This record gives sequence, structure tokens and C-alpha cells, in this order.
Amino acid sequence: MTISDYESALVTGASAGIGAAVVSDLCARGLTVHAVARRQDRLVDLAAATGCTTHVLDVRDTVAMEELFGSLGVDILVNNAGVGRAIQSLTDADPADVDQTIGTNVTAALHAVRTVLPSMIERGRGHIVNVGSVAGLYPLTSGVYGASKGAIHLLSLNLRLELAGTGVRVTEICPGRVATEFYDAAIDDPDLRHRFKETGITEITSEDVAASISYALDAPWYVNVARVELQPTEQTYGSVNFHPVEGPEQ
Ligand SMILES: NC(=O)c1ccc[n+]([C@@H]2O[C@H](COP(=O)([O-])OP(=O)(O)OC[C@H]3O[C@@H](n4cnc5c(N)ncnc54)[C@H](OP(=O)(O)O)[C@@H]3O)[C@@H](O)[C@H]2O)c1
Repeated sequence: MTISDYESALVTGASAGIGAAVVSDLCARGLTVHAVARRQDRLVDLAAATGCTTHVLDVRDTVAMEELFGSLGVDILVNNAGVGRAIQSLTDADPADVDQTIGTNVTAALHAVRTVLPSMIERGRGHIVNVGSVAGLYPLTSGVYGASKGAIHLLSLNLRLELAGTGVRVTEICPGRVATEFYDAAIDDPDLRHRFKETGITEITSEDVAASISYALDAPWYVNVARVELQPTEQTYGSVNFHPVEGPEQ
């Protein structure tokens, strides 16, 4: 079950960044690729460049998603649509931003898997690729986004158990910082956005992430690439911090 055995793929969040790179990669390998996102103009350009089939859809619209995803019978789902609203803090987060991040990154991702699995199981072949994040594996002072990607991590682990014996493979991709428009969509305040975006390092590209997905898809049938963590060489995670607090008098 390598890429050449798969015939079709569905990529959410295909209008930019990682999703667009995955669509280009899979189209170049001869698959029929369904590209899903909200921005029609971007999808039109992508279709012209790659030959993919486009679907303008908000993945939080469960009914529309169920209708489309349930009817396609794809071999591969790349569950990639995601946002980082309220990424900076839960304490002063706008409730609507919390709902958007959880609705897009978690609820929609669950429904996407739920709607494509029946036909994969029936055909005894399929591959779920969940785009998580290092934020789902390590604490990065990002409660909302970290919670959403932590859910993707446990979703991926649990799916492996739930799908045991079906032949359907599950891969979690956990990138560190990738050079995309992610923070433009995540943060409205220009100064704060600038602070998040200007890392001064060489970031991973969308094509690097797409290549890691192709690696997982291209493995022989008996190999399930369960998780790929890819981080910029110049970015690290984890530390020990000490913050003295003046406690109550004893
Ligand atoms: N960039 C990073 O540093 C980084 C690191 C680790 C993980 N990730 C993850 O990688 C994935 C892709 O992000 P990216 O970096 O490529 O960001 P991006 O360039 O901002 O792309 C996000 C994609 O998600 C789509 N999307 C957002 N909300 C949607 C909705 N409700 N319905 C349908 N599509 C929706 C956007 O399309 P429309 O706006 O046209 O709908 C866009 O195509 C996300 O899951 C993100 O959490 C990113």
C-alpha cells in the first residue's frame, strides 16, 4: 500500500500553506485530489496549477461536510485545516476565538474522520493523516491551541486501536514552526503578530511537511508511520522555569 496503490485523496485546508503543498505533491504523483477550503479564489488558482478538484466548504459545517466527504470514497484523508485563534493566551481570549479553534481543529477533524472511515473500512484500505503540532506534544504557553492539537494527538493514538485489523493506517504529523500564513490568520493585532512571526530562524517549509506526509503514505502496507515530528533545527522545546510567588503568611 504505497502511494502508487492509492487512487484518491481529500485534503482539508488546501487553499494555503501545508495543505496546498500536499495537494501539489499528491497531484504530481497522479492521484485524484479533492481540495477543500473556504476561499474560492485560492482554490481556483490551485486547481489551475495542479489539476485538483476543489470544494468550497467550511469544515465546521458538519452537515455539508458529511454530505461531501461521505460521498467521495477517498483512499486518503489529510486532516489539515486549522487555525490558531486565541493562540497567545486563554486568560484574555475572546470566546468566539476559542470556539473557532476548537471547532476547526478538533470537532471538524473528528467529523472528517468519521465521515470518510466507513468506505475505507469497507474497501480494506485507507490512510488518515492528521496534521497535529509540536504544540500537541509539549507545553508552549498556548492553552487553547495546545489543547486542540493535544486532542489530535490522542485522536491519532486511539484511531490506531479502533482501526486495528482493518488495514486503514493512521499517521500524525507534528511540525514545529512552518513558514505559512498561519499567524496572519491567527492574530489580528499587528504588534503581537509581528512578535509571534519574527523568529529570526530558518523555518520549515510547507513542502518539507508535504514530503513527510508522502513518506508516510509511501511506506509499504505493513508499515504504519504513526508519528512524524519535524522541527526547525534552530527551534527547541521544553525547559524548567522558576517563578517565586509571595504566598500567604504561615
Ligand atoms: N504554521 C505552523 O507553524 C504550523 C505548525 C504546526 C502545525 N500547523 C498546522 O498545520 C495546519 C495547516 O496550517 P498552515 O500553517 O498551513 O496555515 P495556513 O497557511 O493559515 O493554512 C490554513 C488552512 O486551513 C484552512 N481553513 C481554516 N479554517 C477553515 C475552515 N473553517 N474550513 C475550511 N478550511 C479552513 C485555510 O483555508 P481558508 O481560510 O481558505 O478556509 C487554509 O487553507 C493547521 O492544522 C495548523 O494548526 C501549523
